Amino acid sequence: MNDNHPRVIVALDFANPMQALGLAERLDPHDCGLKVGKELFVAGGPEPVRWMVERGFNVFLDLKFHDIPNTVARACAAATRVGVWMMNVHAAGGRAMLKAARDAVSATAAETGRTRPLLIAVTALTSLDHAALREVGVELDAGRYVLRLAALARDCGLDGIVCSAVEAPAMRSAFGAEFSLVTPGIRLAGAARDDQARIVTPEAAAEAGADYLVIGRPITGAGDPVAALAAINQALGHPA
Ligand code: C5P
Repeated sequence: MNDNHPRVIVALDFANPMQALGLAERLDPHDCGLKVGKELFVAGGPEPVRWMVERGFNVFLDLKFHDIPNTVARACAAATRVGVWMMNVHAAGGRAMLKAARDAVSATAAETGRTRPLLIAVTALTSLDHAALREVGVELDAGRYVLRLAALARDCGLDGIVCSAVEAPAMRSAFGAEFSLVTPGIRLAGAARDDQARIVTPEAAAEAGADYLVIGRPITGAGDPVAALAAINQALGHPA
């Protein structure tokens, strides 16, 4: 992990780009990165992302690409040209797709003189339980399946994975210090869980080995999002 990057990534899960940018405008790129997912990207396209990049934010483009290698490579190249700091693909897309994505990101960054974005793998979706995995033909238990996909991603030169903080210690010991662990499912002590089944506090996630913490509603839904982020950063020991 590069210690110069803020550890908190605020998930801007808004359908309305103006709402997302209104919140981003109140935040400082030194204090957090921003995550743009499918809802905001489909509603607003790349312009809001460019706006965030120009303001100096680390932007995590969370579109979870999964397609034939050529298509994913071209999408990753396009995201690199927009200037995102991190993007993700499904490890289940397989070795050829993962390598094509990695090569496209590296080549496009070199061509455009940009820092190479981090390429992160999604392993098993946390919404899939044992029965759902079996139904799509996965006979491994979820833990082994996640490990299998994470190992494939690392073998293909990806920079890390999205995982729950609960899984982080096992991933850290399996894949070492250089593999970035990006963890959602963060809640402040005593706060609403929303629809997250397994939640962990920011401090516990950091303690478990998470490099980057994706946090949405505890910040975006707070009466004062700036204060909520500041409190989380303080708990993480991030300098004000
Ligand atoms: O609002 P909340 O903090 O739950 O937002 C978490 C973010 O992380 C959302 O954008 C959600 O889509 C994403 N995410 C997740 N669980 C995963 C993968 C991604 O919550 N397993």
